[in-house]
Amino acid sequence: MDCMDKNEEAVITAVTTAIKNSRKYGDTSEATIRQLAEEAARQHKKPKAAIKAVRTKLHSIMAPYLGDPDYTAVAQQLTEAFTNNDEERIIQLCLDSLEAHLSTRERLPIMADFYGQIFAITGQPQSIMDIACALNPLALRWMFPEFSNQLKFYAYDIHEPRIAFINHYFRLEGLEPLARVQDMAMNFPQEQADVALFLKEMPRFTRNYGDLGRPLLQALNVRWLVISYPSVSTHGGRNLTSRYRDFMHQLIDGLNWPVTELLFEGELVFVIQKDAETSEGL
Ligand SMILES: C[S@@+](CC[C@H](N)C(=O)[O-])C[C@H]1O[C@@H](n2cnc3c(N)ncnc32)[C@H](O)[C@@H]1O
Repeated sequence: MDCMDKNEEAVITAVTTAIKNSRKYGDTSEATIRQLAEEAARQHKKPKAAIKAVRTKLHSIMAPYLGDPDYTAVAQQLTEAFTNNDEERIIQLCLDSLEAHLSTRERLPIMADFYGQIFAITGQPQSIMDIACALNPLALRWMFPEFSNQLKFYAYDIHEPRIAFINHYFRLEGLEPLARVQDMAMNFPQEQADVALFLKEMPRFTRNYGDLGRPLLQALNVRWLVISYPSVSTHGGRNLTSRYRDFMHQLIDGLNWPVTELLFEGELVFVIQKDAETSEGL
């Protein structure tokens, strides 16, 4: 702030306001927008150029092209379904929400088996964090067919309506509303949990934030890390398995974390035990 001149501060404010009021990126956390505006203002003297630079970054970070449900409408429908105790309708609305975003849509055919196999390795978690979650917390009933209201489900994203929607759903399910608007690149999650999910986002995270993946994984206060990658490219159907396997092993090289690999139709998963040393010593 000390070395920031007046023009730079004016550009930051103009850019933050313009993006926060825009239709496409206005749903993004203001802290994230401001951080990007600060970076852009260092490189561009004019707000117009800085706004363009921030929009380009947000396209990559928010990936709006992956899809969204109509949050207000589905939240209302969920409220009605819970009020009427209509289990079939609740399940259908969860599936519709998962279907609205590409990452969860691709996982639908394998969803129950996916979490079954992962938790067979980690044990059934009492607490979980879903980082860069998008709509994945709506898979709650497939992850935890018999959850209790003691389950702690932390979820992090920078899309404000998405987080509000997830908390609305959590409350309806009787869970604490532990979804947070939090930029995990600016503030690594601090909560403690049995398992952290970081699904299908590491390649984008690396593209957007460089070498932050390894310190993020090291910082997470969890016993197990579950990190996944698409096994085929969205465009063109190229097989990405061996490329992402190499990438994952490089990312945690030298950390001595035991890794189990699971390969599902469309998704390559690494289940990593962070607390191996501690539990061996018990
Ligand atoms: C590809 S989607 C994630 C899909 C989800 N993990 C799944 O597999 O179903 C990427 C999500 O990451 C979020 N995101 C991107 N950068 C982020 C950051 N720095 N902090 C928190 N969330 C972020 C986006 O808003 C978006 O919802």
